[in-house]
Amino acid sequence: MQTFFIKTKVCSGSDAMQVLGTFAGKNAVIFTDSFMSQSGTAAKIAAMMTGARNVRIFDAIKPDPPIELIAEGLSFLLDADTDVVVALGGGSSIDAAKATILMAKRSGAKDNIALVAIPTTSGTGSEVTSFAVITDREKGVKYPLVDEALLPDYAIMDPSLVVSAPPRITADTGFDVITHALEAYVSTAANDYSDALAEKALSLAFQYLPLAYKNGEDLLAREKMHTASCLAGMAFNAVSLGINHGIAHQLGARFHIPHGRANAMLLPHVIRFNAGLGTGYSSAAASPAAVRYASIARMIGLSGYNTNALVLALIRHISRMLKETQTPSTLREAAVTREAYEAVKDAMIDASLKDACTATNPRPASAQDVDDILSGLARW
Ligand SMILES: [Fe+2]
Repeated sequence: MQTFFIKTKVCSGSDAMQVLGTFAGKNAVIFTDSFMSQSGTAAKIAAMMTGARNVRIFDAIKPDPPIELIAEGLSFLLDADTDVVVALGGGSSIDAAKATILMAKRSGAKDNIALVAIPTTSGTGSEVTSFAVITDREKGVKYPLVDEALLPDYAIMDPSLVVSAPPRITADTGFDVITHALEAYVSTAANDYSDALAEKALSLAFQYLPLAYKNGEDLLAREKMHTASCLAGMAFNAVSLGINHGIAHQLGARFHIPHGRANAMLLPHVIRFNAGLGTGYSSAAASPAAVRYASIARMIGLSGYNTNALVLALIRHISRMLKETQTPSTLREAAVTREAYEAVKDAMIDASLKDACTATNPRPASAQDVDDILSGLARW
């Protein structure tokens, strides 16, 4: 049996923040980073929680939230006798809030804390997913948590919070959106429900990412990218991802390449691999993944005389977007040396194949296949 559900109440529109006024008599904690705190945004959010008994701000969130931070957050939550957590920020703030609430629940300390996610980047989709990633810095390992209890109760989608994101962050996070939706679309678990979400996410992201990158003040482009991010999050929450994320997690863990950027660099090579171009599939009998990619190519207005030509057009289109957004397309451009790469290559290949995301990739991959995909980036 396949099931599909969305627990999170998604609030959008210019008055979406009104939800914050509905927690009368509750103790609230805002989980955020020091930037959101110092810029006054966290205080503005706190002021909107009219009626709340008490609002405190926990602004210690850092990128790639470590286990110690979750423990610190937990004692803050318990100390404040928290009823509702408002996670304000990018994926790190939302993931840290999710992990902390789950820890409160699993430890038996408190099991009824509501979560309101307010994303300030358009990328992770964390506001609607049952995933969170926390890091063990000592071991250099990232732990993905997967639990329906991690799903936020509310997601407030306010594009004005994204306007200040610089072009580099806009491009990196935007390519994460495109990768989420494309991987969900070709996932072995894809179904009509996830397809509808992925298609809309892709149609919005391919149209509006270039506009949001060129002009961060373009509120329509910001709004559409925010929506695309949320839709793509719903899609992959239902049907998971693929080997693009499996390998990107390694590039992030080993070389600290930002997550969305690592995905972007891999995309042309992973599409080529998944579509099986040059591996015996003819234009008359294209691979199932090629047929899926071709339909996305057609949807965004690309043309080609057959399925494989459409896949190539999609690859070229994405490669052009990488260039136009000055996104690296090789490890050298991402400041990784050949020596550093060679030293960890085998371990990366092994870990990519074991990554949970790789399980739903449309084409099974061997170590040699991952090596081949990586070799597309390994040019010095
Ligand atoms: Fe991602």
